[in-house]
Order: sequence, then structure tokens, then C-alpha cells
Amino acid sequence: MWDDISDRLVESQKIVFVTGAGISQESGIPTFRGKDGLWRKYDPMKLATIDAFYEDPKLVWEWYEERRNNILNAKPNAGHVTIAELEKYRKVSVLTQNIDGLHQRAGSKNVYELHGSIVIIKCTVCDFRDKITSGFSALPPLCRCGNMLRPDVVWFGEALPQDVWESAMVEASTCDTMIIVGTSLAVSPANLLPVYAKQNGATMIEVNIEETQMSSQMDLSLREPAAKALPEILGIISSGKNG
Ligand code: APR
Repeated sequence: MWDDISDRLVESQKIVFVTGAGISQESGIPTFRGKDGLWRKYDPMKLATIDAFYEDPKLVWEWYEERRNNILNAKPNAGHVTIAELEKYRKVSVLTQNIDGLHQRAGSKNVYELHGSIVIIKCTVCDFRDKITSGFSALPPLCRCGNMLRPDVVWFGEALPQDVWESAMVEASTCDTMIIVGTSLAVSPANLLPVYAKQNGATMIEVNIEETQMSSQMDLSLREPAAKALPEILGIISSGKNG
């Protein structure tokens, strides 16, 4: 199994990663659906929807402030760093569902944030939008125009940023290798990206500590934590070179 995949990795030219909460789990950021996942403690419909926000903006902001604080104190782990390192050997794009910015902090240049970013704050009315990494004293924070600010993340029921989604579809459809890391593939439309890659004949590799709904469609499904499996993949590519 590995021999065939190793040969394909050595031959690869363009690698596209689809990542989810699992790649940041080893940075201390909880996943959503794993055994200790966030959605086991909180009801996503009470916190991660536009209706929930307008119903109780203070509650939603308290939850996001807690997550922002945790994320801003977290560090990229070996999984994020390895993906950034791979840019030395291959064309690499990262299509991430994560809002934690850890891929960029690890040095990845080509990152598409499908679900937005928790460090970008925008106004609910005017066009104010900025990166804010400090905490807010009063919640919900208000814009200078007087209206409420919100995290620039995609809530359930909201559309993905159109330009990011279109670019992500192009990336997924034009790679020869897709590596899917730390995502349950439970949420659409992100979970369509592996379908586009497979339709384009890409080599499909999954890195996940559990089975997912697409594991059976992978050329290789590594049942290992990302921080362990990704350096193994880098080792094959860096020693085999080509590209
Ligand atoms: N290494 C690899 N995989 C891991 C690790 C790890 N160290 N830890 C957990 N996983 C796997 C879990 O087995 C699970 O399959 O990561 C996956 C995380 O899945 P989810 O918690 O569903 O997270 P994700 O797929 O990113 O969720 C997608 O749902 O709630 C929305 O917007 C939110 O972006 C999120 C989207």
C-alpha cells in the first residue's frame, strides 16, 4: 500500500490539503465532533448561527471570546509546520475549515479559509473589517458606527465567501494529490472538495485518528494523529524529491 503511494507522492506536482479541527487538536484546540468535541458541550444551533447571534449576542460573543483567547494562545503543531515545509518541494494549497489561523502562523502561504477567521472582526452593518487580536472589554463589542461587531466566521445557514469557495473548487479540481487531514467531512460544501479531486483523478490520502464517511474512497487512509503522519509524508517527498 505505502510503496504505491510513496511512488505517487514522489511523482506529485501539486498537493492540495483539506484540513479540519483535527489538525489543530494537538495545538490544544478542541474539535467539534470528536469524543470531547465542542458540540458535545454546546448546542451549535444555540451558538453558531446568525439567529442565535441576534437572539443573544452577549452569549455568542462570550463563547467566541473564550475560543479567541484559547486560539490566540495556541501554537501551530508539527502538522501545520510540515504542511508549510512541503512548500519547499511542491506546489501546495491549503483549503481549511478552521478559523484559527494556525496554518498561516506556521508559514503556509496559500491558505483558503472556507469558514472565515476568528481573528477578523467585522461590523454587522457598515463595511468595517479588521484583524483584532486583543480582547474586548464589553460584549457584544460595538463598531464606531454604533452597530454590533461580529467575528468574520461562517455560521450554519450562511454562505461561504464566494471568492474563496470558487478558488477552493479550482484548487481541488486541478491537483494530482489531495491530503485530507483532521476533518469528519460532516459539513458541506467543504465535504464536496474531495469529490472534485477524486473526479479529477487525484491520489486521495486521508489522515484521521478515526474512520470517516469517505475513508473507503481513499487510496490511503492513515489512522494516525496529524502531527505524526504528516512528517512521515514529508519524509517520503523530501527524500524522493522529484516534483
Ligand atoms: N489528528 C488527526 N485527526 C484528528 C485528530 C488528530 N490529532 N484529532 C481528531 N481528529 C479527527 C476526528 O477523528 C474527526 O474526524 O478530526 C476530525 C474532526 O472533525 P470535526 O470535529 O467534525 O471538525 P471538522 O470536520 O473540522 O468540522 C467541520 O463543522 O462545526 C463546523 O464550522 C465548523 O469548520 C467546522 C466544520
